[in-house]
Amino acid sequence: MRLNVRALAAQVIFQVLENGASLSNVLPHHQAQLGNGKDRALLAELCYGVMRVLPQLDNCISQRLQKPFKGKQRQIHHLLLVGCYQLYFTRIPAHAAISETAEASRQFGQEGLVKVVNGVLRNIQRDDAPLATNNDTLKYCFPGWIVKKLKAAYPNKWADIIEQSQQRPPMWLRNNQRQQSQAQYIEQLATLEIGASAGLTADAILLEAPTDVTALPRFAEGSVSVQDQAAQWAATLLDAQDGDLILDACAAPGGKSCHIMESADVRLVALDNDAKRLERVTENCQRLGLEATILCADAANIDASWHGDKFDRILLDAPCSATGVIRRHPDIKWLRKAADIDTLQQLQAQILDHCWQWLKPGGTLLYATCSILPDENSQQIEAFLARTSDATLETITASKENDATGWQILPGQDNMDGFYYAKLVKAIA
Ligand SMILES: C[S@@+](CC[C@H](N)C(=O)[O-])C[C@H]1O[C@@H](n2cnc3c(N)ncnc32)[C@H](O)[C@@H]1O
Repeated sequence: MRLNVRALAAQVIFQVLENGASLSNVLPHHQAQLGNGKDRALLAELCYGVMRVLPQLDNCISQRLQKPFKGKQRQIHHLLLVGCYQLYFTRIPAHAAISETAEASRQFGQEGLVKVVNGVLRNIQRDDAPLATNNDTLKYCFPGWIVKKLKAAYPNKWADIIEQSQQRPPMWLRNNQRQQSQAQYIEQLATLEIGASAGLTADAILLEAPTDVTALPRFAEGSVSVQDQAAQWAATLLDAQDGDLILDACAAPGGKSCHIMESADVRLVALDNDAKRLERVTENCQRLGLEATILCADAANIDASWHGDKFDRILLDAPCSATGVIRRHPDIKWLRKAADIDTLQQLQAQILDHCWQWLKPGGTLLYATCSILPDENSQQIEAFLARTSDATLETITASKENDATGWQILPGQDNMDGFYYAKLVKAIA
């Protein structure tokens, strides 16, 4: 049986919340089951929307159920989340939202629960009460442990950071400077009535509204890529020069590798320990007409698989909590656990120490994360500098906050994702 959009949404949400899968991995498989673009967009809206305001929806439903759904019936809980989201956050007429959601429970083979789904959703519609916000979790729709860390790190900015992280992100493009200038591409967009403006970096272009990539001039031929401006700072700060041997130590899916290769004629090793994700690097290189050496290896043990020279420059875009990109990936709030931060911090330190061995004297290592937690950023780099006598920190001129170690970009700052950069230079022996 073909499942309707609400049933597919409940399946996606189930996989994220119950099986720990990431939304961006699961969603495309389910979208592929839908015939038209409108339905695919609605499926994405329902899944992303539920992830953004999950605690409020959970609370609203739980209050109307005598006992929670368990076992095979658990999916009905996720279906009710989808139903409740439609009633509060979309313009879908209530009767359509309720009947489609009830139909989805029939499609799940839960005939006996169709009436319950109908009843709960009609009750919510009839009550027409605002969603509860009487504790921090309900008010901010953020897990308590992240709120606590943000309050400690940003006593004056934490509420704004959370608000920004709850927004829908803008769409940024990266102009491929090998094909045209940033200004020329903005002109090409204008002829198609796609509003856009130049960002702060040489290649960044901000679209007025998100657009399907197939509508962008010469996207398939590699004229532009989709990449947030915060991530585009990596290539600018690494400042690769023609002839450099470069290591991108955690490269997949290759956004930053490709940008570096677009910016200069370098020899680049794109290393990652995830073979599946590395396939995306190959695809991206093919679309953009670029060539890299692709290496599936552990960045904390490069010796085992790289037998070439040491590197002039290294980009270490480390695995991290991704707390800076919650506006793009709201499922991160529910997938990440407090205990992950210690594990990540240790892994980052291990990779950093090992990569440092592979940097030539006089070379530059750019450490990057899409995290906003000092544990993974300024504290990580302060500890590295304390134990590494031949490392110095270069000031990043783009940074306006000179007192901090490295450059912490906060979500929403100049329309960017949250990101962190530290530029480390190795002493000439
Ligand atoms: C933040 S993502 C990199 C994004 C990438 N730089 C880009 O711009 O497209 C971090 C990457 O680190 C990889 N990774 C995690 N642990 C690793 C390890 N021990 N060695 C190499 N890569 C690792 C993950 O597979 C993931 O692709």
